[in-house]
Amino acid sequence: MHLPLVHLIAGARPNFMKIAPLYHQLKNTDWCRVEIIHTGQHYDENMSQTFFNDFGLPKPDHYLGVGSSSHANQTAAVMVGYEKLCNANNPSWIVVVGDVNSTLACSIVGAKLCIPVAHLEAGLRSFDRTMPEEINRLVTDTLADLLWTPSPDADKNLRKEGVAEEKIERVGNIMIDSFEMLREKIEVGSAWMRMGLDAGEYGVVTFHRPANVDSPDSLRAILNELVTLSESLPLVFPVHPRTYQRITDFELTQLLGNAPAIRVIEPLGYIEFISLVASASLLVTDSGGIQEETTYLDIPCITVRDNTERPITITEGTNRLAKPHEIGGLAEQALSGNWPTGTRPEFWDGHTAERIAASLKRRIVDKN
Ligand code: UD1
Repeated sequence: MHLPLVHLIAGARPNFMKIAPLYHQLKNTDWCRVEIIHTGQHYDENMSQTFFNDFGLPKPDHYLGVGSSSHANQTAAVMVGYEKLCNANNPSWIVVVGDVNSTLACSIVGAKLCIPVAHLEAGLRSFDRTMPEEINRLVTDTLADLLWTPSPDADKNLRKEGVAEEKIERVGNIMIDSFEMLREKIEVGSAWMRMGLDAGEYGVVTFHRPANVDSPDSLRAILNELVTLSESLPLVFPVHPRTYQRITDFELTQLLGNAPAIRVIEPLGYIEFISLVASASLLVTDSGGIQEETTYLDIPCITVRDNTERPITITEGTNRLAKPHEIGGLAEQALSGNWPTGTRPEFWDGHTAERIAASLKRRIVDKN
């Protein structure tokens, strides 16, 4: 007799690192089988395969190959591909993670086929519906049967939206499991050394949010701030493909070319990137995950956004929101040591995958 099948859905870069600890936790159980579904939302080697290598993940069991497109096209392509797959191999549970288009698409498919869906990283809200991820989070959480949250604010958001209490389980932050799983390799990672940098004496920059990079004015304002900051702090800038495209489209390449202290590089794999972060003195970013990683690592993080769906990184952590023109002033504060020390939120402890496995086992085994 086959064991109940659990699908782990991953489509984009931040998903791969989130399914990894869970895959390793579930792969050898005697109560479920697990398969990895890669939707193909991200497909470049350094946005996808590198993460499979870093985390020791096997080749995905199914690859939907949807690629890049408009939101409607991409979401629809995942839905069509994933519905076919569900009909063919009949999963007992679908686990979706984060807030990307693949998360939304597979949740809808599961809900319509009456296959239970669990959402990992549920309940986060920026309350900003101009962000595509906020729409993805709202719809996914409305449809999911089981909501695994990382923090008390997420529990509160779900309760306010009327989600039944028995569906909400606080399991903690899976990204900390990802970090702890690879800690030894991260600690010997030496991307910064190879770049000729000194630990604690450089900053790391990442930008990819449409609100920051899709308009020439905001992208230029951010890059100008970074150029000025680089005169006092060397910066490493792994450029996301969306951002690279926009820098080229808006003819801003020269702006960066004239700033020798900004090292513009290709996106990095997980181990290289997080080892760079772990030895940095400062992060300037618009990423969601980096706000959490810097809180865990107690490194000042300037998040260039009007809001965050991860407020605990501000109330308990090292994260501060900023407008582009505030980057310089905040960086100066951080570099002079005038920055709050972070604490690690409850359950950000490297044991989230164990709590998730226990939660799923209760649902699967107790039901049979
Ligand atoms: C997506 C997610 C975002 C997440 C981010 C992490 C949605 C709505 N957005 O945004 O939440 O924070 O991933 O990276 O799901 N491209 C490549 N190679 C790739 C993938 C993309 O060159 O492997 C280029 C394409 O030109 C594409 C552009 O990057 O049009 C943007 O990619 P897309 O997946 O649409 O959105 P992201 O900005 O990556």
